[in-house]
Amino acid sequence: MSPTTLLAIETSCDETAAAVAIDAGRELPAPEIRSSVIASQVEIHREWGGVVPELASRQHLRDLCGVVERALSDAGVGWTDLDAIAVTQGPGLVGSLLVGVAFAKSLALGLNRPLVAVNHLAGHIESLFLCHPDLALPSVVLVVSGGHTSLYHLPEAGTYRLVGRTRDDAAGEAFDKVAKLLGLPYPGGPAVDRLARAGDERSIAFPVARMTHADRAPGAPTVKPPGFPMSPGRLDFSFSGLKTAVARHVQRHAAEHGRPLNEWETADVCASFQRAVVDALVERAFEAARRFGARSLGIAGGVSANGRLRDVATSEGEARDLPVLFPTLQLSTDNAAMIAAAGLRQLRAGARASLDLKALPTLPIETGSTP
Ligand code: KG4
Ligand code: ZN
Repeated sequence: MSPTTLLAIETSCDETAAAVAIDAGRELPAPEIRSSVIASQVEIHREWGGVVPELASRQHLRDLCGVVERALSDAGVGWTDLDAIAVTQGPGLVGSLLVGVAFAKSLALGLNRPLVAVNHLAGHIESLFLCHPDLALPSVVLVVSGGHTSLYHLPEAGTYRLVGRTRDDAAGEAFDKVAKLLGLPYPGGPAVDRLARAGDERSIAFPVARMTHADRAPGAPTVKPPGFPMSPGRLDFSFSGLKTAVARHVQRHAAEHGRPLNEWETADVCASFQRAVVDALVERAFEAARRFGARSLGIAGGVSANGRLRDVATSEGEARDLPVLFPTLQLSTDNAAMIAAAGLRQLRAGARASLDLKALPTLPIETGSTP
């Protein structure tokens, strides 16, 4: 097999990213990432306390050409060296996705190269294979980010079956909302993570929701483990009640003490909230791994950068003799290297997108819906 040079583009939310990857053939276990460039919009959205979709898409328009040119020059390749283009088709903000999809389609047409449409969540899953090419299968992967909190069963590489998901807020969204009500800067996850280190995680007993009933407003169907009589929803998450409990705690404190939380009290809230989120994530991820007979557990997406999640999941894995794997911190949050990895896997499997490709804000992972 001759080497394939692929350019990947990611614009699903508030990072404009491009990467060049080379698939040298079967000898190498993972593609080589030759460059990975990210233009973050965090400073723009911080002023508003969260991502403003209109501002995000306008900034992608401004940044994308420069980011792609930089990715090519960092990789030492020219336009005509590219063999294929991969782009995030969804899920994400439609205006943001459109910028990347339109750019990628034009490039594929102009260069007469194949186009591959990548699911953003498949990208997060593939970030694990980039960092751990020998990840043992079958595996269970938790994708935990600002927009998603989902559990996938991977019977083999490239097959992702949705087995659990959040019924309301994503874990990262809960971090961001709690940070906002504590007056911490956006994005909230890193700020809460940092402050929690100074707090007492047992000081406040915030409730953690357990799903024992079927979802009354289900989205994409989830897959049950074969031969396991499992109550519906056991592997689902819910974080909106926890966020409300934190809001009530903050209000009650202000009413009782006649002042807002001080720095130490804020650190205690961060630590206790973070414990509740991490315990819910870890408990259900290990439950899924047990039920699906996984030989490894992967944790990817922006929240996988969380210090407590890394510590607790790693020590729980050691206790249960189950390898727990994370991407590097750079590959945890949104980037195009992971889209390149997913794109190359799909390209090898023969996937080609048409030039009619549309951005799909709620795109499901195709191979997730059937057992
Ligand atoms: O994967 P990502 O970059 O974008 C999405 O696809 O959503 O994830 C961003 C999310 C944000 O909600 C951010 O607050 C959260 O990841 N995050 C963290 C940490 N670093 C980023 N959450 C908890 N602890 C962190 N250290
Ligand atoms: Zn993401």
